[in-house]
Amino acid sequence: MFFALLASFMLLVACQPSKPAPAEGSGPLVLANAAVDVHSYAKPNTARVRHIDLNLTADFKAKVLKGTVALTLETDASARQVILDIKALDILRVTDASGAPLKFSIGKADAVKGSALIIDLPQGAQKVIVSYQTTADTEALQWLEPSQTAGGKHPFLFSQGQSILTRTWIPTQDSPMVRQTYTATINVPRGLKAVMSADMLTPDGEAVAGQSGMRAYRFKMDEAIPPYLIALAVGNLEFRNVGKRTGVYAEPVTIRAAASEFEDMEKMLEAAEKLYGPYRWGRYDVLVLPPSFPYGGMENPRLTFATPTILAGDKSLVSLIAHELAHSWSGNLVTNGTWDDFWLNEGFTVYFENRIMEEIYGKERALMLQALGYAELQETLSGLKEKELQKLHIRLKGRHPDEGFSEVPYEKGAAFLRMLEAQFGRQRLDAYLKGYFERYAFKSMTTEAFLADLREHLLRNDRALEDRLQIQAWLYEPGLPDNAVAPVSRVLKLVEGEAAAFSQGVEPDMLRTSDWETQAWLHFLKSLPSDLSENQMEALDKAFNFTNSGNSEIRFAWLKVAIARHYEPALPSLETFLTTQGRRKFIAPLYTELMAQPGWGVEMARRVYAKARPGYHQVTRDTVDKIVS
Ligand code: BES
Ligand code: ZN
Repeated sequence: MFFALLASFMLLVACQPSKPAPAEGSGPLVLANAAVDVHSYAKPNTARVRHIDLNLTADFKAKVLKGTVALTLETDASARQVILDIKALDILRVTDASGAPLKFSIGKADAVKGSALIIDLPQGAQKVIVSYQTTADTEALQWLEPSQTAGGKHPFLFSQGQSILTRTWIPTQDSPMVRQTYTATINVPRGLKAVMSADMLTPDGEAVAGQSGMRAYRFKMDEAIPPYLIALAVGNLEFRNVGKRTGVYAEPVTIRAAASEFEDMEKMLEAAEKLYGPYRWGRYDVLVLPPSFPYGGMENPRLTFATPTILAGDKSLVSLIAHELAHSWSGNLVTNGTWDDFWLNEGFTVYFENRIMEEIYGKERALMLQALGYAELQETLSGLKEKELQKLHIRLKGRHPDEGFSEVPYEKGAAFLRMLEAQFGRQRLDAYLKGYFERYAFKSMTTEAFLADLREHLLRNDRALEDRLQIQAWLYEPGLPDNAVAPVSRVLKLVEGEAAAFSQGVEPDMLRTSDWETQAWLHFLKSLPSDLSENQMEALDKAFNFTNSGNSEIRFAWLKVAIARHYEPALPSLETFLTTQGRRKFIAPLYTELMAQPGWGVEMARRVYAKARPGYHQVTRDTVDKIVS
């Protein structure tokens, strides 16, 4: 009787389409409507990794990490195996907690997903220990020679886990639905410091028995996080406090510039908390990486990783810090359940980032940033031929999650929330978002589960309202619904006027640019007509010195224009820019522009890439390999 009741109850739960459960971080192993992560081999519903304990040594000579990972499992009674994700790893041995060897096998390798590591479990086993080392093909790690760092004297190592690269340096269930706590001991050569996305237990390291040349650093992350947020960096690092809970790590030659650029971090943190509730991670620090870091920023919990290219000297590019900080809620607290739901991370974060910027730097700066993002979205949408990639929720089965990376999850996602803001008002939307972060803290969320939550808490199950707002189209269809709200920036309108004046012959010195901020300059460069003459290019460069701009975004925008107009005086600067930093967002479009110039451009792209490629991170190489041929 009891079972019959239970069965019909479960049937009920399973059939209720309006209420899919979010993927759990803890609790029952079998879930109603559990989403499937097509990018992981793991079967977490029978045997799930709950905690990982790393013990690794960084060997800078061999350029490998080697050691063990002890995985604590939660299994259901029938579990005979646990399945992990691995890619380009040497698996040396697998044992149980007592050291007794366990049988394991490695499945066929897939170019995107890597392989399944299938470990036989003795009845009731709750721990497995894997001895392994990374290889030369480990995509997550970049080992830098001293010459590739800012200081030039010490080597450097960093990891990049998102989206599915953690499996290239840690054998675990590499799915954002399988949240895990972690502890780690990292042995590094004396003189270097290890940092991780975790609580640092030994700020100065500890002696390692019998190895006088090594120091051990220990870490602990007590909150269950998706494995893509496990992160490590090792280098000659210094730390400086910015505020009570905030600080920066950087190489000694960069630390001063970093601390002053990020001076507003504590205020940002306070603004964020005021908007959407308490910061749940203790400290918020930023690590400034060497210039080859392939992203602008990466929201590793407690320790954002950031490119040095945002050190403009005038805080003009710090919206990136607001962005990564915002991920402490959207992304790290409530995490996309699968990579098909990536927009839940980035769209919410872009919206939230802009609210932080508005709070600290004012409405106009925030509007400029919105307008620039919206313009890029429209450009992206008109260039994206494949309709699937224009959707917020996309189906990536059989493809790399990276293929879904574009302005769509970021800016269309943010535009969706701004549409809701326009409809419901800030007060109601903010209350909703705050509640959302509370309800699903430390859980993973799918688009479907989000829609159910939105219906219940914001739309109040009003189907007519839902139709009127075109919610279905926003989440599941290509293009931009017609109730999107185009941001209007007064300053950028003035900038467009000046760009038009210039194209009609007004001399650069006569343009009214004296109070322009970086975002105005960026918009100016994007608003220039496509038929500028050599003389006009020279006049602009002479007046504003774009070619040698110390602001990476301005220099990048100018170099794109310079390539398209074959403006030779900028080419040495272009070559320097391409060979001294590896941020993919800058690197890839510049090679694309060059390849569009038959003859000189193609020749330059090939020559510079041959020289620069060894210095780029694998993420950047993978993208540029497809551009330069
Ligand atoms: N989480 C992303 C970076 C990322 C996304 C890495 C997907 C790997 C796969 C990060 O928060 C981000 O969006 N960075 C942006 C900067 C941001 C201000 C838009 C970047 O790196 O350009
Ligand atoms: Zn982001």
